[in-house]
Amino acid sequence: MKTLITGGAGFIGSHLADLLVSENYDVVAVDNLSLGTKKNIRHLACHKRFKFIKEDLLHIDKLKDIFQKNRFDVVFHLAANSDIAESESNPEIDLNNTFMTTYNVLECCRLFHVDKFVFASSSAVYGDSDEDLSEKSCTLCPISYYGAGKLAAESFISAYSFMNNIRSWIIRFPNVVGERITHGVIHDFIKKLKNNPKQLEILGDGNQKKPYMYVKDLVEAILFIYQSAKERLNYYNVGVKDETTVTEIAKIVCKEMKFKNVKFKYTGGTTGWRGDVPFYQYDLKKINSLGWEAKYSSTEAIKLAVRSILNK
Ligand SMILES: NC(=O)c1ccc[n+]([C@@H]2O[C@H](COP(=O)([O-])OP(=O)(O)OC[C@H]3O[C@@H](n4cnc5c(N)ncnc54)[C@H](O)[C@@H]3O)[C@@H](O)[C@H]2O)c1
Repeated sequence: MKTLITGGAGFIGSHLADLLVSENYDVVAVDNLSLGTKKNIRHLACHKRFKFIKEDLLHIDKLKDIFQKNRFDVVFHLAANSDIAESESNPEIDLNNTFMTTYNVLECCRLFHVDKFVFASSSAVYGDSDEDLSEKSCTLCPISYYGAGKLAAESFISAYSFMNNIRSWIIRFPNVVGERITHGVIHDFIKKLKNNPKQLEILGDGNQKKPYMYVKDLVEAILFIYQSAKERLNYYNVGVKDETTVTEIAKIVCKEMKFKNVKFKYTGGTTGWRGDVPFYQYDLKKINSLGWEAKYSSTEAIKLAVRSILNK
């Protein structure tokens, strides 16, 4: 199987490349290295089943050349703006890197007859909801430009899938943590504590509570869903059963860094930044009944991620 991973030099994309190569897939990773880095895939550089191409997916003519030269069987589309807070002052970041990248890749699938498309979506498509987030939910009201970009991308995938007989897997990730993570709350806390081990500034009131998933669990789930779900258009939440609060994360980070009596200073308000969904819980019945459950809990995932960042 010849596969394309867009965003293949990123945090999750590079772990997916590791898994697919180990399962004997031929992998071409395309990334413009705007957020990803070659360091994430350095260990794969000489592997006979792996190739890296530095390219911006917004350059559709270059992308067409890549599709022309490589007859892909399946595309895993992970490239996007992964920094939700970053687009607060510039929505165009998500219009381009979250939505238009998806449109361009879909258009290449149509032109070059690639009939399998796997998409990295997000809990952000649901917006700020009081209910458990279920794939059956009809009210999808994103509150960030990132969530809007993902939801618009999902709509185009649905239409391309129907119009061109493309089988698609839309997988809505929770918060993902682990080795090679580039930004987010854990990074933020470690950086702040290195500067000042006596006091830690925490965005919001610390009660934001979300499910965090270990990246190796996630990439296994992606491959499992791709291999097991057989509809033309497959929607899946993927996640863990429990959630972790931001204050709990702060305590784990302090403990792992062996800092005692750190004073937590909250900036206040219920959210970390504009567009942040402070609390969500996934309904996981659909993926559980397909036969998959995460190995690590949310808190275990956080601990693994903190240790990996500190060891590095
Ligand atoms: N990390 C999470 O918690 C999380 C949660 C939900 C969904 N996701 C989704 O998973 C996917 C991977 O996220 P990640 O955490 O690995 O982030 P990441 O930033 O590490 O990976 C995204 C990659 O896409 C690349 N990219 C961005 N724009 C591009 C463009 N125009 N052309 C080519 N490459 C481009 C970046 O350089 C980066 O390597 C993204 O689609 C993200 O939205 C991530």
